[in-house]
Amino acid sequence: MTASDFNAKYAEITGDFLRYSETVFADLNTPNALAEAMKYSFFAGGKRIRPILTIAFGEAIGLERAEVMPYAFGLECIHTYSLIHDDLPSMDNDVLRRGKPTCHVKFGEATALLAGDGLLNFAFEHILGKIKDKNGVEALKYLAECSGARGMVSGQASDKENENATDKNEERLFETYELKTGKLLTAPFVMPALLKGEASLLPIAEEIGKNFGRAFQFADDLKDVLLSSDQTGKTSGKDERENKFTSVSVYGVENVKKIIAELTEKVICGLKKLSSSEFLVYLANTVNKVEK
Ligand code: IPE
Ligand code: IPE
Ligand code: MG
Ligand code: MG
Ligand code: MG
Repeated sequence: MTASDFNAKYAEITGDFLRYSETVFADLNTPNALAEAMKYSFFAGGKRIRPILTIAFGEAIGLERAEVMPYAFGLECIHTYSLIHDDLPSMDNDVLRRGKPTCHVKFGEATALLAGDGLLNFAFEHILGKIKDKNGVEALKYLAECSGARGMVSGQASDKENENATDKNEERLFETYELKTGKLLTAPFVMPALLKGEASLLPIAEEIGKNFGRAFQFADDLKDVLLSSDQTGKTSGKDERENKFTSVSVYGVENVKKIIAELTEKVICGLKKLSSSEFLVYLANTVNKVEK
C-alpha cells in the first residue's frame, strides 16, 4: 500500500465516522451547556485511532461497516470522556487538548466533569439501541469492562498513585499502562472479533491489541518529550515537569523507540494472520513512530 492510498483510506473512514457521529449527536440537546461541552470535546479533533481501528479490523475480518460503527462511536465517546477527566485540575491539570482549550478551561470544571459523565452514558445508550444479537451483547460487555474499574478507570487510579510510589519498576509501569491505555486499545480488535463470533479470532485480536496499546502509550510518552505542542495539540514536556512515571522515565528515549519497534513487529505479525490487513499494517507501522 502506498502512502497516498493509506492517507485516502484513513480520510475516507474518518469522514464516514464523523458523519455518523454528527447524526447521533444531532438530537442531543440539553437545557444547559452540557450537550455543547460534550460536542466541543468530541468534535475538537484527534486522530480517531480507536474508531478507525475498530472499523478497519471489522472490515479485515469480513464485517459490514454498519455493524461495527455503533461500537466505534461508543468507544470514541468513552475515550473522549477519559481525556476530559484526565485533563481536570485534580488529575493531570492540562489546559490544551486536541489543539484547543481543555473542556474545563472552556466550560468550567463542573460542566467538564458532567460532560465526561454524559459521554460515558451516551456511548452505552447508543450501542444498546443498535444491538442485534448475543454477539452484540458480548461486544458491549467487553467495552464496559475495558472502560471501568477493571480497565481504564483503574489504570487512571494507578497512574495517580504512581506519582508517589517508591517502587517505580517495570512491573508497575506495565500494569498501569495495560489498564489506563491498553484496555481501550484492545477493544477495537476484540469487539469486532466478538461481533463476528469466531472463537479462533479472539486470541489473535487480544494479542494484537495488547501489543498495539503498549506501543501507543510508549509513543505518547515519547511525543511528550520530543514533539512540540503544535504537533501534538497538548502541552509538551509536561510528564517530566510533573514527575510522571512514564516509559521514558524508566527506559530513556532511545530504548523506548526500540521497544516500540519490537512491539510493532509483533502487531504486524498478528495482523498478517488476517486475509486483508494492508491498511492496518501500514497504520501500525507509522502511527507509533516518533521522530523529532
Ligand atoms: C491520548 O489518546 C491519550 C492516550 C491514551 C495516550 P490519543 O493520542 O488517541 O488522543 P486523540 O484521540 O488523538 O486526541
Ligand atoms: C492518559 O494518559 C490515558 C487516559 C486514560 C486518558 P496521558 O495522561 O499520558 O494522556 P495525555 O498525554 O494527557 O493525552
Ligand atoms: Mg494522565
Ligand atoms: Mg494526561
Ligand atoms: Mg501522555
